[in-house]
Amino acid sequence: MPGAANPDANPWANDRATFDLYRRRARDEAEEMTCAAQAAAVLGPLIGPGESLLDAGCGGGSYLWSFRRRGFIPEWWGLDHTPELVDLARAEVAPRAGLAPERFMLGAIEDLAEGSYDNVLCFNVLTNSPHYAAPLERLLRAARKRILLRESLGDELVVRFTPDPYLDEGKRHIRVYHNTYPADEVIGLMEAEGFAVTRIRDERTGDGTEMVVDIPHQWRILLGERRS
Ligand SMILES: C[S@@+](CC[C@H](N)C(=O)[O-])C[C@H]1O[C@@H](n2cnc3c(N)ncnc32)[C@H](O)[C@@H]1O
Repeated sequence: MPGAANPDANPWANDRATFDLYRRRARDEAEEMTCAAQAAAVLGPLIGPGESLLDAGCGGGSYLWSFRRRGFIPEWWGLDHTPELVDLARAEVAPRAGLAPERFMLGAIEDLAEGSYDNVLCFNVLTNSPHYAAPLERLLRAARKRILLRESLGDELVVRFTPDPYLDEGKRHIRVYHNTYPADEVIGLMEAEGFAVTRIRDERTGDGTEMVVDIPHQWRILLGERRS
């Protein structure tokens, strides 16, 4: 399948418990994620009429509900390289939101075209990538106006690539990246690509440390606004 991640190496297709949670979120039946609420509260008011938004690494597509709930209805697109999650968004979010299923696209961030969306949202994605630089460069070039990111950012690069004991039985050999990236370097790349960058305090963690699958993550939110 073009643009799809290898299922034998992709944790998102091999974690039934998380998948069930994503299904409930897609149906808007689960408790709202604090970070999704914050994404909508920060980015929503900046989005002009008729502007598009790409939710990059959208999972089951549920962030749309956080924007809708707050009255923000940009032209919504989702992208994810896990077929099961794109199918979930197409089946559960699209019809409830009155959108064509094609608004949720199977594909890789790495294949995004330059200047393709007004706004880009990317939450909790690059931390689980081998490295942030190549996909972030693509996201920055895809964003015509602004980008909102949430990733684990610290003082220095920490690469963790470990089996995940919380995956389904028989899949726990799959290794997952849980990286922390140097905040200054990430901000430097955003600035070099033409964005003014604002740090925004992460409400879920208070800019502290959160353990995710027993690994410390330092979730930080960055807003990038393209200089005119
Ligand atoms: C931890 S989940 C986060 C999902 C959602 N953004 C959220 O915060 O709930 C990471 C998602 O990013 C997707 N993903 C990771 N790398 C990607 C890439 N290079 N291109 C497209 N999707 C990617 C995965 O398939 C997965 O659905």
